[in-house]
Amino acid sequence: MLSYRHAFHAGNHADVLKHFVLVELLNYYRQKDKPWTYIDTHAGAGCYALGSEVAAKTGEFTDGIGRLWAREDLPAIVQDYVAAVRQFNPSGRLVFYPGSPALAMTLARAQDSLRLFELHPADLRALQQTFGKEARVKINGADGYSGLKSLLPPPSRRAVVLIDPPYEVKDDYRRVLEVLAEAMQRFPTGCYALWYPLLDRAESRRLPEKLAGLEAGSWLDVRLMTRHPPAEGLGLYGSGLYLINPPWVLPERLEKVLPWLTEVLGIDEGAGFELDYQIE
Ligand SMILES: C[S@@+](CC[C@H](N)C(=O)[O-])C[C@H]1O[C@@H](n2cnc3c(N)ncnc32)[C@H](O)[C@@H]1O
Repeated sequence: MLSYRHAFHAGNHADVLKHFVLVELLNYYRQKDKPWTYIDTHAGAGCYALGSEVAAKTGEFTDGIGRLWAREDLPAIVQDYVAAVRQFNPSGRLVFYPGSPALAMTLARAQDSLRLFELHPADLRALQQTFGKEARVKINGADGYSGLKSLLPPPSRRAVVLIDPPYEVKDDYRRVLEVLAEAMQRFPTGCYALWYPLLDRAESRRLPEKLAGLEAGSWLDVRLMTRHPPAEGLGLYGSGLYLINPPWVLPERLEKVLPWLTEVLGIDEGAGFELDYQIE
């Protein structure tokens, strides 16, 4: 079932959390000249026009990147992320929002490479149009979970892997655990970032406990809630990112910025954040 289209959600609060941490991870990997590989198991369309009928229908970006866009007090840690989004909006108006592959590309050097998986035919076409001629990018219209296994370990032995499924089907909750367990075996030193939704749904509630069961040596779990869970229904009230082998500097950097981000993105008094980690 491929009903999910990221265009409805591009630039929302969940993208802000996911993408600002992604920029942090890749910036950390850029500190050494040695090449890195960025693997995106669920790449999406790559770049989104916020004025399109689809994005405008939900307007989710207005409570996400829209709240950061005009701020003059951006903490240093968020500045690189917003600067990367600005590269796609040279007029200064927020018109386009770059998805994870496009953001990663802004940080890729001549020696780095991107491996992208996307199953939806329309989003796959969009990705191919954006990156088609770029030799550093390989795009695969295949299942990202199986694709990831086939790429590990990467020749560079340095990789940041984003696993960002739609979670529209229960199976995603099972497959993310399976793929992480296998990836940790094949390539134990890789940096893995799993995005997950905070929803009032049993699978979503149980996920953090199941992730802990992977028994990774170094891990970080960050959750940002923008509001109280809705009294009824399955509305997204926040999201989390679970990292395996995060940079050792990341907890301290997140501790500094999360209060600010929560205040800026918060919708009601249910807004808050949680940060747990273990760095070995
Ligand atoms: C949340 S979106 C990705 C957003 C993107 N990572 C970003 O941050 O800009 C999830 C994408 O995964 C695609 N997808 C769903 N199942 C997939 C699978 N098994 N393998 C690869 N892509 C899949 C969907 O079509 C959708 O475009």
